[in-house]
Amino acid sequence: MPSRRDFLRASALAGGALSLGDLRPLHGATPAPATRPREIPRAATPLRILILGGTGLTGPFQVRYALARGHAVTVFNRGRHNERLPEGVTELRGDRNLHEVAPLKGQDWDVVLDNPTTLPFWVRDVGEILRDHTGHYIFTSTISVYDPKGQRAITEDSPLLPYTGGDPVAVTPEAFRANFAELYGPLKAASEREAAKWFGNRVTIIRPGLIVGPGDASFRFTYWPHRISQGGEILAPGDGTDPVQVIDSRDLAEWTIRMAEARAFGTYNAAGPRSELTMAGQLHGIRAAFDGTTEVRFTWVPAEFLAEHQVSPWGEMPTWLPGSDPESVIARTSNARALAAGLTFRPLATSAVDALAWFREQPEAARAQIGKAAGLAPDKEKAVLAAWHAR
Ligand SMILES: NC(=O)c1ccc[n+]([C@@H]2O[C@H](COP(=O)([O-])OP(=O)(O)OC[C@H]3O[C@@H](n4cnc5c(N)ncnc54)[C@H](OP(=O)(O)O)[C@@H]3O)[C@@H](O)[C@H]2O)c1
Repeated sequence: MPSRRDFLRASALAGGALSLGDLRPLHGATPAPATRPREIPRAATPLRILILGGTGLTGPFQVRYALARGHAVTVFNRGRHNERLPEGVTELRGDRNLHEVAPLKGQDWDVVLDNPTTLPFWVRDVGEILRDHTGHYIFTSTISVYDPKGQRAITEDSPLLPYTGGDPVAVTPEAFRANFAELYGPLKAASEREAAKWFGNRVTIIRPGLIVGPGDASFRFTYWPHRISQGGEILAPGDGTDPVQVIDSRDLAEWTIRMAEARAFGTYNAAGPRSELTMAGQLHGIRAAFDGTTEVRFTWVPAEFLAEHQVSPWGEMPTWLPGSDPESVIARTSNARALAAGLTFRPLATSAVDALAWFREQPEAARAQIGKAAGLAPDKEKAVLAAWHAR
């Protein structure tokens, strides 16, 4: 059966939305949540925050939350999506693939958030400049750093994937792109070590699980609200008991800013929700978020049957990993440390409604492209359901 890694490999080969380690919105302006914004209280002490990135998936939510909390925000990126930035943000430009980090020289920041980095030399380049100019470096990593082999659950102390190719700082963007699925986790882990080398114990490592919500062009969660909103008989994977973890990009973004305010150092998994969620819990939870005018029937099809019919976990059945998949343990990632450090979660329904609203707002061509990034094609779903009923 194709694995999550096969899906990553196929996405990388397809090019499209996949860039250096992140999947970003392809079109459209700032993700506009459909649910009503809350009052955001100001922080006790305003910070000077530098966000490396800032205009992709989580960045725009970090920027908005930081401004609402009264902080001064500077972003650094190549400028490809800066129409998403609100007023009051200072913009610096440079391409980290080309070592263009000189614009970061000559200023001090209370905290630096490094969002998009997978290549260790990206950390080294900014480390050389920023080491003595910031009191805190927050690195966005991933739960893909963990080596799932032989693990029954994941905590921050679980073993990490090693990088076995020599000096990881020497890995080029081209070499990474050519072998994305195999190198992503090991290079993220190597980048974490590089961060510690330059910033010592002033580092926070945040390891998110699957990031979802408005602005997510990967369709790896949005497929479900989209499919459920269409109604009818829906192919659902397994027996409903497999565990699922996701995190809304806004929860991740806002918590990251609060971690900066608290100067909370150390390593934290960022995976939701608070208490265990199963695949059935997720799908029924999403269904409950819609108004009930459409009839929805889930048909749960065992993993073995899906494998026989070439339905891939994670790719065609997004967010789902069957127990037989060696990587399925990543859906059992402990978030206890992050919860103790103030990570909070929006309701699943909010993520579902806002993700779908964002998807529907996209121009038709973008919707067509995003819709192909993950999920089961309608014809294949019909065919597999028919085969299941005829067995
Ligand atoms: N998606 C997931 O489910 C998931 C799960 C776990 C972890 N993660 C990690 O979470 C992070 C997600 O990042 P995000 O999209 O939320 O970050 P972001 O800061 O919102 O977006 C990526 C930023 O990086 C900038 N950038 C990209 N290439 C650059 C370059 N060569 N030089 C300078 N800037 C560059 C982009 O702007 P320009 O394009 O204009 O340069 C953009 O501002 C990544 O580190 C990813 O590995 C993702």
